[in-house]
Amino acid sequence: MSNVPIRPNVLGMTPYSPGKPIDEVKRELGLDRVIKLASNENPLGPSPKAVAAIKEAADQIHLYPDGSAFLLREALANHYGLPMKQIIVGNGSDELIHLLGMVFLGAETDEVVVGYPSFVRYDASAYLANCKLVRVPLNDEMRLDLPAMAAVVNENTRLVFIANPNNPTGTIVFEDELRNFLAAIPSSVVVVLDEAYFEFADGTPGFPNSLDFIRSHPNVVGMRTFSKTYGLAGIRVGYAFVSDEISDAFDRAREPFNVNLIGQAAAKAALGDTDHLRQTVELNKRGLDRMEKAFVELGAKPFKSYANFIMADLGRPARPVFEALLQKGLITRSGDVLGMPNCLRVSVGTDEEVGIFIEELTKILG
Ligand SMILES: Cc1ncc(COP(=O)(O)O)c(C=O)c1O
Repeated sequence: MSNVPIRPNVLGMTPYSPGKPIDEVKRELGLDRVIKLASNENPLGPSPKAVAAIKEAADQIHLYPDGSAFLLREALANHYGLPMKQIIVGNGSDELIHLLGMVFLGAETDEVVVGYPSFVRYDASAYLANCKLVRVPLNDEMRLDLPAMAAVVNENTRLVFIANPNNPTGTIVFEDELRNFLAAIPSSVVVVLDEAYFEFADGTPGFPNSLDFIRSHPNVVGMRTFSKTYGLAGIRVGYAFVSDEISDAFDRAREPFNVNLIGQAAAKAALGDTDHLRQTVELNKRGLDRMEKAFVELGAKPFKSYANFIMADLGRPARPVFEALLQKGLITRSGDVLGMPNCLRVSVGTDEEVGIFIEELTKILG
């Protein structure tokens, strides 16, 4: 061991554990057919318009990208009816989460409030800044407990992360709950509404939209991504709605070319592909309904999901069920790595993939 001065808070962090890659499972288990239902990707694939834009942009990649991502931000601004200044983009929303930590956290006494379990990358922003992470358990409905989260906010709280829908449970908080939460906390606390799965839940009665909050609450950040409904997870583009002041701060903190040239072109094209978006949301709804029903029929307790995955309490450790599914070429997520050992999280696949999943799960649980 050398004595290089790695900070103790970094040594205490656990690296992110992504869903197993398809090729790895094929190699390890000698399987031809492997279906990945582990990372909440789009089973339809990317928008064909995005793929065409990528091909067109390919012969420009000897050039640096536009550091201001002008065309993409302009398209987002038009799409959402916001001034461009209030739209920031990142190398996936993962990067935006990281940057939020860089911008708002600095002192050891600073506190970050998250639900538990929720998206694990929020924790990293607190650990990296060596400040305090305050985890608030979900309520009995497996939803973020906003009153309990408001109750732990104090003068040291800098950031609160609200994933809506929440990952890994797929559950949502409602507009009235969010309004009460915002009214209960100081306006100096930055509230990140992470809407990575927004388009799947959009239209649900009472489901809030961060756009309705950012004008009245400059401390609210609305964050979305091209990785889910838009099928561009591999190219890494996320974006956020922010106040002018936060936009300025991001511009100071971010890397000069944080969204690559291909990503900018693909995301702009995908944003205009409403057919692909509609098909994605419809396919997801069909799959979710079938999977929810199957879990119930098999005696498990699925949580009401509004995202492109579903989590169910199997009433027994999920790890052996995860392993048995893996042997059949189905990659899912065992809840033990997400803080819920009896739960299995499964992304919605194509109609055919959902059928195969239900068939195999029935053989294991039935
Ligand atoms: C709630 C939530 N936020 C953010 C992300 C990160 O998405 P991106 O691919 O944009 O980095 C994910 C990815 O799974 C997520 O579930």
